[in-house]
Amino acid sequence: MPITNPKRYTVTAALIYANGPIHIGHLAGCYIPADTYVRYLRSKGEDVAFISGTDEHGVPITIRAKKEGMTPQQVVDKYYDQINKSFADLGISFDVYSRTSKPIHHQTSQEIFKDLYDKGVFVEEVTEQYYDETAQQFLADRYIVGTCPVCANPNAYGDQCERCGSSLSPLELKEPRSMLSGAKPVMKSTKNWFLPLDKMQAEVQAYVNSHPEWKSNVAGQVQSWLKEGLKPRAMTRDLDWGIQVPLPDTEGKVLYVWFEAPIGYISATKDWLIQKNGTDEGWEQWWKQDDSKLVHFIGKDNIVFHCIIFPATLMAEGSFILPDNVPANEFMNLEGDKISTSRNWAVWLHEYLEEFPGKQDVLRYVLTANAPETKDSEFTWKDFQTRNNSELVGIYGNFVNRAVVLTHKFCEGKVPALGELTEQDQAVLAELAAFPARIGEAMENYRFREALALIMDLARLGNKYLADTQPWHVIKTDPARVGTILNIALQITASLAIVSEPIMPFTSEKLRKQLGIEGDQLKKWADAGKRTVLAEGHPIAEATLLFEKLEDSVIEKQVQKLHDDKRMNELAAAAEGKEVPEVKAEIQYDDFAKIDIRVATILEAENVPKSKKLLKLKVDIGSEQRTVLSGISEHFKPEEIVGKKVLYLANLAPRKMMGMESQGMILMAEDKDGSLAFVQPGKDVWNGATVS
Ligand code: 2FM
Ligand code: ZN
Repeated sequence: MPITNPKRYTVTAALIYANGPIHIGHLAGCYIPADTYVRYLRSKGEDVAFISGTDEHGVPITIRAKKEGMTPQQVVDKYYDQINKSFADLGISFDVYSRTSKPIHHQTSQEIFKDLYDKGVFVEEVTEQYYDETAQQFLADRYIVGTCPVCANPNAYGDQCERCGSSLSPLELKEPRSMLSGAKPVMKSTKNWFLPLDKMQAEVQAYVNSHPEWKSNVAGQVQSWLKEGLKPRAMTRDLDWGIQVPLPDTEGKVLYVWFEAPIGYISATKDWLIQKNGTDEGWEQWWKQDDSKLVHFIGKDNIVFHCIIFPATLMAEGSFILPDNVPANEFMNLEGDKISTSRNWAVWLHEYLEEFPGKQDVLRYVLTANAPETKDSEFTWKDFQTRNNSELVGIYGNFVNRAVVLTHKFCEGKVPALGELTEQDQAVLAELAAFPARIGEAMENYRFREALALIMDLARLGNKYLADTQPWHVIKTDPARVGTILNIALQITASLAIVSEPIMPFTSEKLRKQLGIEGDQLKKWADAGKRTVLAEGHPIAEATLLFEKLEDSVIEKQVQKLHDDKRMNELAAAAEGKEVPEVKAEIQYDDFAKIDIRVATILEAENVPKSKKLLKLKVDIGSEQRTVLSGISEHFKPEEIVGKKVLYLANLAPRKMMGMESQGMILMAEDKDGSLAFVQPGKDVWNGATVS
């Protein structure tokens, strides 16, 4: 059963691998909802520890290191700094942003491993694992690629096929090969320690069943794992990057990254206390007291680890509380395609922050409005622009601006007195009073999209109230009535500042400044909805714009950038690993002498109708003009090549293509990235000059 009335909250956000920058998928999946939840709890006055950091072990790190030509340590140092900074700049308010490479984490996870070992929890087993004899290394699942048995994808990984999503074991792959050397791996025996999840099935099932309140996407995934039957899972791996197994004779063995990474939440809590108090004393209250509520924010690919494997580890240890909720989100797609780091199809947080300075909340807003809470969702730049222009500028900003500007215009910049209330005023104040509880209920139940929709409804309520009461007309006849209207409008803006803080902290701060409710005047959740947040006579600062319109050109530039980045990545990938071909088998001079290569000029060029590749060229070869069909139209436009001097193979037998005869061949060189270049004489040689 979910814990009711907890004394404190231990809230974690996934320890992301420090092997690349943060993108909007990460933010929408985990970090923005987590930060929103925590900010809401703090505003309510709850005791919260908001814990996160980077996951610095595991194969994803070593793969990245290999790709970037760095050591794993250099990779994690580089990305830790970048990730930490970009989260801070987006206003993600972690209490601690730790790292699993810290000694406190090595120590904590080794202690827990040793404790389970001493309790006899693990099953020791010698199994046959894939081994790369060239690289002299056991191969982690991710280091083995082969053909997927389900969809025949030739590049499926040993643990998962990214094309069809099947989770696999390396033995299921057809034609396996090592990613380290390309060699066919061999089987070799090795000893590892397994968590016997099969024997823990009933206990795990009971725990999961005791949480019927979990989100349906989470419960669905977990139940399907349970239905399939849990299998023992190795908690140690043969790798050279990670946390040493704390047992004798275990050289070359490290803790399984999914064993130690979630323990990272515990070590990060200790790290936080050490940084704050110089000692980790008191860490247990966050992890071992029944009146603490433990909530893990993650993306859907982490569900099984947080809902089954980590709880099973904690159960086996016996003294820890278990996750109370794991409100995992689904994935966010981007402009009609899956977000992908390897294909460079992403909006990167550090780039966004540079290109849209001061607009953190626009991103926070759009990613919340569109959050993949129950199913995958999609980010498009057009939607980003529309939400900014029509919702943030058009509704929220517009209302706040009118309320503040009118107060300066008609009431000397001070909160006017609340006079006699009309029925309409009463109704609006009653609606205002009900909003915080409705928004809070949505936040408490991890429905942040709904919370945001309600916040916008509150701004709409304000807009409608001003439109209906028309203070700009009433001022001519009844200034006291205008005072009442603006008092109510200002109370709505003050409540907006409070209730939107969890999602849009920067906007809330700006708005609080305008309303003079910052510093020791700071209002919290309990004040929201009241008709007395702003006292009569309280001075209001000048209006500043909270949001500004985004022009089409800004958005078009971003879409173009996405496509350009992806293309650059494809070219780099095509070039990578391409090797200079071996020299062909030897020939004699007589063989060469048979070839007639000469200098020619392209006189005309046109596309061949219905052909994607061919250009029809007319070339002057000195003695005559020839027609050549050349498969280069994906590389050159006809008009760019007319007039070019080229080398031409004159005595190649004619060929028929698309119903036309092609005579001879233009010589081309293919670059590393697959692009083509004409081969040209070093000076303007006459047409017909022979090459020998
Ligand atoms: O998916 C990831 O990036 C993992 N490193 C998340 C780990 S979360 C927790 F277990 F630490
Ligand atoms: Zn597949």
